Amino acid sequence: MTAFNILDDLPRIVGDVRGKIALVREDLNVPMTDGRVSADTRLRATVPTLAALSDMGCITLILAHFGRPKGKVDPAMSLAPIAAPLAEVLGRQVTFMAEPSRDALAALPAGSIVIAENSRFYAGEEANDPALAQSWAAWGDFYVNDAFSAAHRAHVTTEGLAHILPAFAGRSREAELRALDAALGSPKHPVAAVVGGAKVSSKIDVLVHLSSRVDHLIIGGGMANTFLAARGVNVGKSLCEHDLLATVETIFAAAEAANCTVHLPYDVMVSREFAPNPPSLRSCNVHEVAADEMILDVAPASVEMLGDVLKNCATLVWNGPMGAFETPPFDAATVTLAKMAAALTREGSLVSVAGGGDTVAALHHAGVAGDFSFVSTAGGAFLEWMEGRELPGVVALTRAKM
Ligand code: 3PG
Repeated sequence: MTAFNILDDLPRIVGDVRGKIALVREDLNVPMTDGRVSADTRLRATVPTLAALSDMGCITLILAHFGRPKGKVDPAMSLAPIAAPLAEVLGRQVTFMAEPSRDALAALPAGSIVIAENSRFYAGEEANDPALAQSWAAWGDFYVNDAFSAAHRAHVTTEGLAHILPAFAGRSREAELRALDAALGSPKHPVAAVVGGAKVSSKIDVLVHLSSRVDHLIIGGGMANTFLAARGVNVGKSLCEHDLLATVETIFAAAEAANCTVHLPYDVMVSREFAPNPPSLRSCNVHEVAADEMILDVAPASVEMLGDVLKNCATLVWNGPMGAFETPPFDAATVTLAKMAAALTREGSLVSVAGGGDTVAALHHAGVAGDFSFVSTAGGAFLEWMEGRELPGVVALTRAKM
């Protein structure tokens, strides 16, 4: 029994859905380069729901945003060019309808899939305007939200429609919520969190929340330098937020009070310049960083130690790389630790959930994204979930449970 309606509940709640109109919120906010989709993960995430509805004979209208046009029509942000790549991924016809209406949709053959124009061309979308919600709701018979990655937005298409129409979680959304619950909602302990990335300042709330939820908090990336500095380590020229040392102290204190062990690297890769394979590259103990050196990655002995932590854990949630992973060889710690987590997942001893744009890129770079238990397509929504915040798009579906 889920906390929200799922597609399997359609016959019970809506009855025979053949010829009925489904309004389906997907996240089509995909990266585009020169007019082409450069990463189709989000398109692939739509397949289970769109194929299922089409097979059931529904007429599906996809509602989605693209970019941030701020309530104005911007042809550069039209969703029209997404119809063809989506059709290719789906292996079914997808058409674009700039101005949907109930009559136009109802005239389509059963099983049709249609994309509406960028919902953010309408100012009422982001304002969650009840009048706009009513007029869009009139197009359909029921609403499916399949876009966890937009669940942190309280907009008409992510939240408002769930108050008006019978509302269901799509297949990807359902899988994502189940995976996230297994990672932080009701996880198997011990739980480890890997939090990396450049700055503590962008993840203070994540760190504070996790320190009371997990048993092991592994800090990597540039933010580890700030943690090391708070422990009295001289980090040389490394990226370090010296104004946040007191904040880091409160995170240490919260972790200690909650019996959460904070793991920092004890040896690191340093260099005098930040460039690929720099001549001054060396590994050293964190207490031996010279004044003109920068910490750019975790060194192998510490990675081994962090891998041992994972061996003793049942659950892992990962957000952020361990080093400056776009620049070799500072991808080494991220790649090695990701491979260790993937191996433990394959062996069945670890449930591993990862999310966030950089993290997903890092796991693909390590070649192990497919081995994690779950990799979230969400960026901002994943971070807000890691902060323990209630996401409006999730709450609305839960309230709509029948
Ligand atoms: C994303 O790309 O993370 C989602 O589509 C949400 O986009 P937004 O940050 O513009 O709301």
